Amino acid sequence: MEWTREQRYLPYDQHSALELLELQAAADNSPEQLRYHIRPESGLLNDPNGFSYFNHAWHVFYQSFPFGATHGLKSWMHMQSTDLVHWHSRGLALTPDNEYDSHGAYSGSAKQIGDRLFLMYTGNHRDANWNRTPYQLGAWMDQKNQVTKLEQPLFRNPNYISEHFRDPQLLEHNGKYYALLGAQDAKTEEGHLALWTSDDLTSGWHDGGLVDFTPYPMGYMIECPNLITVDDQPVIIFCPQGLEKKITDYANIYPNTYVTGEHFDFANARLEGSSQVPVNLDDGFDVYATQAFNAPDGTAYAISWVGLPDTSYPTDNQTWANCLSQVKALHLKDGHLYQQPVPAMKKLRDEKGATVFSDETQVIAQRAGQQCELEMTITNDQAGILHLAASDDLQTSLQVQFDTTKGTLTVDRTTVSQGMDEKFGTTRSIKLPGHADLKLRIFLDHSLAEIFVNDGAHVLTLRYFTDQANQQMSFNHSVNATGTLYQLKNI
Ligand code: FRU
Repeated sequence: MEWTREQRYLPYDQHSALELLELQAAADNSPEQLRYHIRPESGLLNDPNGFSYFNHAWHVFYQSFPFGATHGLKSWMHMQSTDLVHWHSRGLALTPDNEYDSHGAYSGSAKQIGDRLFLMYTGNHRDANWNRTPYQLGAWMDQKNQVTKLEQPLFRNPNYISEHFRDPQLLEHNGKYYALLGAQDAKTEEGHLALWTSDDLTSGWHDGGLVDFTPYPMGYMIECPNLITVDDQPVIIFCPQGLEKKITDYANIYPNTYVTGEHFDFANARLEGSSQVPVNLDDGFDVYATQAFNAPDGTAYAISWVGLPDTSYPTDNQTWANCLSQVKALHLKDGHLYQQPVPAMKKLRDEKGATVFSDETQVIAQRAGQQCELEMTITNDQAGILHLAASDDLQTSLQVQFDTTKGTLTVDRTTVSQGMDEKFGTTRSIKLPGHADLKLRIFLDHSLAEIFVNDGAHVLTLRYFTDQANQQMSFNHSVNATGTLYQLKNI
């Protein structure tokens, strides 16, 4: 269906309860629906927001347009967990209901302050001529999950920054509050990160300047920045739009990248010892707007939107779209970010249904299911194709092509891409050490694949769409590999 602007921005209270129930049922009954990842209760999901720990629980919110598979009037939907794996919906937390967020409660972050959680987000306001003003807004969530918005904006864009000024990450450093935001220079239309500061959080925010974190031009806008500490080093994760491919080679419409540093100088808005060149966070097809934060014990966790702006997906005609990745624990080794599943992911394994294989293997399972985890080591000096979610004749499958002599790995979704942005290619490749064993941990959830390579040195995340009856998991010939295939439970 074609959406008009009026339909996309219709106030929530003008939709009927029945309409919402029907949309929820449609999303729930979709064969491609995910069963152990955060997915939209109805309609469209995009960025993770407010990823935090508060009141003995993990919290994550997501950008939601509950009324269909389109980017309409956005709100924050609240999910809560005690183990970072089993998430429970707590309903809408922030809805667009005042002048400042009239056209969307856009992305932002959350942080415990005292005994409440402070939500900081961008209010998207448009006037009658559709001119936009981005307001940075605040709200408190108490221990009963009741949210109360601040009455006045914290700050808005200064003159030298265009209407593209959003996605604040709230940080605390040496008794002061800081907000890191994506920004566009009003004159040059270049993408930047902006740092703002306040002593008391709810008023008196000051411009701390544009952040010096890379010498390269960052396209025309940066979205969804995060400054985190990973193994004692500062890391900035961000989404530059319009980044030149000669700076960072990427294949998706927009990349999600990171830089590392030695020290973040808040007073001068500078990442000292920056690794300079942004590196792709994920080597697959569909990761964007990753949100990361440091837990109370210091561990850095990330969760990603599995979906891309300006991209349509095959389930759009079923009225729902997109999902979040699983939570990934972050570590740094030799300046490179490693991403690994959290320990509680193993709780999803149905130990009874495990298939163990070793040495010369061709067929791992005729019926591997669409909700499974494959943990496997392929011995060095072999080449072949691993077919996932394959039809019996292997004509349709998600392929993992490997060569452990040369050290290459390619994910090929040509036969299961079903019109997903094929102009950006249907394969993604990475380079690995040659003559080495290849360790894989692959998660399938009906239409989502997350492929962790060599203990998280790389992750390739992607959507795939195939007949759910296509469940074969096998190599194209006998391969020396050992591993276990687990069925996974619903969350
Ligand atoms: C990124 C983004 C953010 C914005 C939000 C709106 O996907 O465009 O910059 O806050 O989505 O939903």
